[in-house]
Amino acid sequence: MSSKQNTPQRDFFSNKFGIIAATAGSAIGLGNIWRFPYIVGENGGAAFLIILLLIKFGIGLPVMLSEFTIGRHTQRNPFGAFRMLAPGKLWWIVGFMGIIAAFTIMAFYSVVAGWTLDYLYNSVLDGFNNKSADDIQSMFDSFVANGWQPIIWMFLFVSISSLIVVAGIKKGIEKYTKVLMPALLVIIVILCVRALSLPGAEKGLEFFFKPDFSKITGASVLEALGQSFFSLSIGMGVLLTYGSYVQKSDNIGSTTFIVAFADTAIAILAGMVIFPAVFAFGISPGSGPGLVFVTLPNIFEQMPAGYIFSVLFFVLLSVAAITSFISIQEVVVAYLSEELNIKRKTATFLAAGGAVFLGALCALSQSGHLNIMFGDMNLFDLLDFASSNLMLPLGGLLIVIFVAWFMGKERLLRELRSNGLYKASYFPIYNFIIRFIAPIAITAVFLSKLGLI
Ligand code: TRP
Repeated sequence: MSSKQNTPQRDFFSNKFGIIAATAGSAIGLGNIWRFPYIVGENGGAAFLIILLLIKFGIGLPVMLSEFTIGRHTQRNPFGAFRMLAPGKLWWIVGFMGIIAAFTIMAFYSVVAGWTLDYLYNSVLDGFNNKSADDIQSMFDSFVANGWQPIIWMFLFVSISSLIVVAGIKKGIEKYTKVLMPALLVIIVILCVRALSLPGAEKGLEFFFKPDFSKITGASVLEALGQSFFSLSIGMGVLLTYGSYVQKSDNIGSTTFIVAFADTAIAILAGMVIFPAVFAFGISPGSGPGLVFVTLPNIFEQMPAGYIFSVLFFVLLSVAAITSFISIQEVVVAYLSEELNIKRKTATFLAAGGAVFLGALCALSQSGHLNIMFGDMNLFDLLDFASSNLMLPLGGLLIVIFVAWFMGKERLLRELRSNGLYKASYFPIYNFIIRFIAPIAITAVFLSKLGLI
């Protein structure tokens, strides 16, 4: 494996809107619309939301900026970036780990993304019409248990993503996210207006916005950190890779802030769609991962003009999933094409093939066709757990330690200031957080996830 020193003709994002659309596209995904509401639901609502916001902006944002900075500074894929910054040292392992984590996330993410396509298809055909809550639950169960059907949808999903990725940064990722992200915003606002006008919506808003701190436990703090990292796409080289396509004149401090803000805003809007609807129809908000796939179709079914809103909702979910998935795929593609000199087309195909293969194993482990268990987790659960709870925090921790302690303050400041174009007046706070607060907090979370403290 040789790191090429002169990368030929690297592609770049064309302007700030392009960077923000692509990076927000990565951040805003199933994590915001599917995972965020049920995690808030399970952890008691508004009090958890406050903790999540503090952790997200206090720790997540600085870590995010650190990862972005390495990418912009080196203009390399994660593996090549660490080789360039720390030649002869073992830091390349961090980059390599990111690439492995990308692969892992691709596998289970594509399975859930495949479900969203199936649901989109079903809602277009009006397949939830006249179904009772039990019918919808058993539709979901038998779909997952079928094994092959989820694999076909997953395959379709990965193919769509590959078509975008293969076209490159400007002509692929940027071009599509620039259209899809504004569309996503419009759809979520329409859904929000609809949900808020349902009779009984206030109860949902109260649950979501009125804090009850008695519900907060140590475990919810850990959950908040995990969710922040997942939602901001931290810790596995996505931000590093996207950062590497950012031009030297861009203000990366403000760019990452805008993305973190947009990511949070969309998650909150998703909560304002889901909780009012859930409460208006008298359903428990803590219904876990099935919240979006079982509870919502049921609600749309009972709602006046539910057909159109259910189609809109699943378009939203599919768009959010696609723009995130392409960012994960891009990590693997950038590595294969820059480090192993594989053509972009072939690299895209290899990344997709690997994801489909591993994803298919995940789908089969869920349907029970493939019976390997790791404790009480099947393969899907294991990959979800290992990537969100172990690899992302570990990747984030090592990245932040590298930037804070090994990259050199001068170099770091020059990058954040774009060589004097900007002031980066947040630097002292940022520096303090990445040197002390973030490493300590992430380590604590990590150890407790492993049951060591
Ligand atoms: N952030 C995305 C979401 O919220 C998922 C995602 C995309 C991701 N790229 C990532 C998560 C990189 C972790 C790391 O759905």
